[in-house]
Amino acid sequence: MDIKGAAALVTGGGSGMGADVARHLAKAGARVALLDVNRAAAEVVAQEIGGLGLACDVASAESAEAAVAAARAAHGPARILVNVAGILIPGRIVGKDGPLPLEKFSKVIEVNLIGSFNMMRLAAFDMAALPALQDGERGVVISTSSIAAYEGQIGQAGYAASKAGIAGLTIAAARDLARSGIRVNTIAPGLVATPMMLTLPPELQKSLTDAMPFPQRLIRADEFSRLCLHIIENVALNGEVIRLDNAVRLQPK
Ligand SMILES: NC(=O)c1ccc[n+]([C@@H]2O[C@H](COP(=O)([O-])OP(=O)(O)OC[C@H]3O[C@@H](n4cnc5c(N)ncnc54)[C@H](O)[C@@H]3O)[C@@H](O)[C@H]2O)c1
Repeated sequence: MDIKGAAALVTGGGSGMGADVARHLAKAGARVALLDVNRAAAEVVAQEIGGLGLACDVASAESAEAAVAAARAAHGPARILVNVAGILIPGRIVGKDGPLPLEKFSKVIEVNLIGSFNMMRLAAFDMAALPALQDGERGVVISTSSIAAYEGQIGQAGYAASKAGIAGLTIAAARDLARSGIRVNTIAPGLVATPMMLTLPPELQKSLTDAMPFPQRLIRADEFSRLCLHIIENVALNGEVIRLDNAVRLQPK
């Protein structure tokens, strides 16, 4: 699909990889709406790129419906959805103080997995009503998993389960939405240099990068964004989960 002139929704657009994808999409000529639970952060990035910053809790049906409607009113129905919003709540299943509080597990599933699905269903509904482009294509959805979907580490039960859910959803959703000409792909990043990662102590960052076969450095956000652009442009990519990880295989801790 041509990015130029298309309307795009980016969740988690107020920070890290979401902000970087939004910048790349805007530079490629898309009309970008940034949906983030942190509205102020989304608005800062939106202002910089001439986009629209919207408050949105991806885990809430009402909040996501309102944000998608506001984006539609400003930019027209989106042909591109990039799900980047995500959270990590660490905790061992059995910790020093007892079993992991269930709400910690539920919260990660709600934001990461249910939130990605919630946005997908709303965006796909709009996409399905748009005229078909070349090859009968109407829209494309990209979600963000993690290599923790395959090699979840100690203390990451909820996060790993949520990201594995996103990976598993990919082929089912691609098949389900195929009749509308909507593609669904997922990126499973390794360790990306976002503010969260860069706040880790330098020795810990070094031990993480030393374990990387090649290249031995954190992944840059723009490497994630450029893969998003390629997925959007390449109509043959569908139903796939792509690891972007320097050949890293995470150890138990
Ligand atoms: N940074 C990494 O190394 C890494 C590796 C693999 C996967 N990921 C995944 O990539 C995505 C982005 O990571 P990041 O490092 O840029 O994170 P980040 O914390 O910098 O940004 C996440 C954004 O999501 C927003 N958000 C959180 N909950 C939300 C909700 N309920 N509704 C809407 N927005 C919400 C936050 O406000 C924030 O702006 C996440 O899904 C993360 O799990 C990150």
